[in-house]
Amino acid sequence: MLSGSIYYKSIYIKMIFHRKGLFGMSDRYPFTLKPLPYAQEALEPYLDAKIIFFHHEKHQQAYVDNLNKALQKYPAYQDWSLRALVLHADRFPQAIRTEIYNNAGGVFNHELYFDCMTPEKDMQPGPNMAAAIENQFGSYEKWKEKMQDSAVSVFGSGWAWLLADRRRQLRIMKTANQNVPMLSAFQPLLLVDVWEHAYYLQYQNRRAEYVENWFRLINWEYVEKRYLDSPCFVC
Ligand SMILES: [Fe+2]
Repeated sequence: MLSGSIYYKSIYIKMIFHRKGLFGMSDRYPFTLKPLPYAQEALEPYLDAKIIFFHHEKHQQAYVDNLNKALQKYPAYQDWSLRALVLHADRFPQAIRTEIYNNAGGVFNHELYFDCMTPEKDMQPGPNMAAAIENQFGSYEKWKEKMQDSAVSVFGSGWAWLLADRRRQLRIMKTANQNVPMLSAFQPLLLVDVWEHAYYLQYQNRRAEYVENWFRLINWEYVEKRYLDSPCFVC
């Protein structure tokens, strides 16, 4: 029989490693490609169908396939959720740790990226996000400028993020490659992919123009929900 504290600790560990994935993401091995929440041409003219096709059907599919391939020989980890794989990749054997992190990060980041966009162009932030942005950055335009600077200045391939910390304070961050912000400390709200595969077919080297147009595709209703759902120690 487990003592009380050990019992509750074991329950907590099970919750971390075996919970259903947050946000409806594909949840455990074998992972599958999460369908787009809109048609491939729905984001035109800002992102054309060809880009979305290659980005989703080829690039994201490759992360899914490579993650499954990496996990295939490690049944002990096959019931880990996507979140657990991203958060605790350091617990994997050295031989596959990087492969797991890169590909789980690729799946995680892309699912969120596609969900954060909408065919409904030029949405405005919801009331809570609008207030948070104004309180912290002064205005939507000032926030946009900072977010844009972060995205444009990522060296090489990576992402720019809008995050909420555990006090629901907003934070802009950029990460390289398929790195994910520390999920135990931050709730990702919004992110923009600045790998060249996200824009090169339409924008070539004009990353700033792609990022400028990406703002017109933000699904603020979804971001508002993520903000209100974020864990908060002081709310
Ligand atoms: Fe991408």
